[in-house]
Amino acid sequence: MSQNPSTTDSGHQPSNERVLVFDTSLRDGEQAPGFSMNRKQKLRLARELEALGVDIIEAGFPQASPDDFQAVAQIAGQVRDATVCGLSRCLPGDIETTARALEPARAGRIHLFLSTSPLHREHKLGMSTQQVLDTAGEAVRRARALCDDVEFSAEDAFRTEREFLAEVFSVALEAGAATLNAPDTVGYATPAEIAEWFAWLRSHVRDAERAVFSAHCHDDLGMGVANSLAAIGAGARQVECTINGIGERAGNAALEEIVMALRVRAPLYGVDTRIDARRLYPVSRLLAQITGQSLPRNKAVVGENAFAHESGIHQHGMLKHRGTYEIMHPEDVGFPSTRLVLGKHSGRHALRQRLVELGHDLDEEAMDRVFAGFKDLADRKSEIFDGDLEALVLGRDPENPGPWRIEHLHAASHLGSSASVSVKLLHEDGRQVSEAAIGDGPVDAVLRAVERATGENLPLADFHIRSVSEGGDAQGQAVIAVQHDGRAWRGHGYSTDIVEAAAMAALDVANAIARSRREPKPALPAKAANA
Ligand code: KIV
Ligand code: ZN
Repeated sequence: MSQNPSTTDSGHQPSNERVLVFDTSLRDGEQAPGFSMNRKQKLRLARELEALGVDIIEAGFPQASPDDFQAVAQIAGQVRDATVCGLSRCLPGDIETTARALEPARAGRIHLFLSTSPLHREHKLGMSTQQVLDTAGEAVRRARALCDDVEFSAEDAFRTEREFLAEVFSVALEAGAATLNAPDTVGYATPAEIAEWFAWLRSHVRDAERAVFSAHCHDDLGMGVANSLAAIGAGARQVECTINGIGERAGNAALEEIVMALRVRAPLYGVDTRIDARRLYPVSRLLAQITGQSLPRNKAVVGENAFAHESGIHQHGMLKHRGTYEIMHPEDVGFPSTRLVLGKHSGRHALRQRLVELGHDLDEEAMDRVFAGFKDLADRKSEIFDGDLEALVLGRDPENPGPWRIEHLHAASHLGSSASVSVKLLHEDGRQVSEAAIGDGPVDAVLRAVERATGENLPLADFHIRSVSEGGDAQGQAVIAVQHDGRAWRGHGYSTDIVEAAAMAALDVANAIARSRREPKPALPAKAANA
C-alpha cells in the first residue's frame, strides 16, 4: 500500500475528475424506523446538504403520502445549488405526481426504480423479463416527457442475471435515462464483485459511454462504503449515500466516509467530489439532533472519538508529528480542534466565534435567541461545552413554537414507591392549566401529567436520555417517541435536570400533535390523488 504523505503534511491533493454525490438521507434514510423527520426538519437538512455541496438531493417519495409530496415540493422550491430528486415507481400515477412535486425545482430529477432480480420478478412483481423490459422503457419515456433528467434504478441489481441487467439498462438508456443506478438493495455484494460488475456493465450496456453509472450500496454486511468505493474505482461516477450512513435496516453507505476516503486516498482513486468537507461534522450533528439518534463514539470521520488519542504512545507520536497517528485532521471535516469552555462571563462575541468554529454561522435573529439561551444556561451550569452550544443551536426549532409552554414543574420520587409530578402549562390563548399525576417513575409521571394538562393521548413507544456535554451538571437530551393516531411522533427536550428534559420532550410531542390538527391537510393535486 503506498504512502500518502501529502494528506498528513499539507492537505489533500485535488483531483480533476468528479464523482457526483447523491444524498438520500431524506428518502432512504428517513424511511428507516426511528429516523423520521417532519417537514421543517427536512427543509433544514436539505439546506445544509445544499451548503455541503451535495450534487443531488433525493428529497422523498412524493407518491408515498401527501406529506412527502409537500416536503419534496417545498425543498424543490428552496434549493437552488443542487438537483432535487423525487423517487417514483414505474407507474404512470407515480411519475405524474413526482413531476408535479418537482415543478418548483430549478433542476429536478425523476428517479424511477423497478426490481430486476428473479426473486423480485417472481415474488414481488409477478412479471416476466419481457414485462420488466417493457415497463422500464415505457416508464422512462413517460418520465422524460415531463422532466429532462431521469435516473433509472434496477432494484436488487446484484442478484439479477448479469446479461438481463445489461439489457434493462440498455432499454432505459435508449428511452432517455441519463443515470443508470445499480443498487445493492440488500447489501449482498462484495467489493471485488461490485468492481467486476461495474466494469462489465460499462462494456456491455449499449451506448454505455452516454450514461452516468451510479452505485447505491446498503450496509447489511458492513460493506456499503467499501462497495461504493469499489464501484467508483470501476468507473461509477455517481454515488448514492446518506449522512451518518442512516437508511433501511443496517443503513446506506455513509457519505462522510466515502468523501473522506476519496480525499485521503486521492492518488489511489483519482476522483473527487464537490463536498465542502469542513461541513461534514456540523451536518452529521444536525442530523443526529433532528432524529434524536446519537452516533457511536467510534463512528468513522464524525464520531466523538474519531480524532481522540488516548494511549501514551500515540500521544507521544502525535506531539512529534501529527502524521504518525492521523491520516486526516479534525479541522478537515469541521471537527472543533480545540476544546474551549465558555462560562457565564463569556460574551456574545466569544459565543459567536465558537459557534462559527463549530460550523454554525447564525444570522442576528438566531444569534439573539441562542445568546439568551446561553445566558440562561450559564446561570445553571458553571462550564458550557461544545455539546451544550450545539444543543442550543440545533435542539430547538424556533419556527415551531407552542401552543403550550411550561410555566412550572415539580417532581418528587421516593425510593421503592411511585413518583409524583405536577405541571403548570400556559397555552398561547392565555389559558393556564395545572395538573398532577403519579407514575412508576418520574418520567412516567411527567408523561401522565402532560397528557392530562394538554388533553393529548401520549402512549410511550420509546424513551431515552443522553448527556450532551460533560460534568455532573451536564445537560441531558431526552427523546420521547409516541404512537398517536397510527403515526410515530418524536419529541426532544434539553435540560440540566432530566425530569425537566423529559417534560419538555413530552410537551414537544403534544405541541406537534396539536399543531398538526390545525394545519390544513396537504392535498395531492387531483391527478395525483387518482394515481
Ligand atoms: O435500495 C434500493 O434498491 C433503493 C432503490 C429505490 C434505489 O433504495
Ligand atoms: Zn436503498
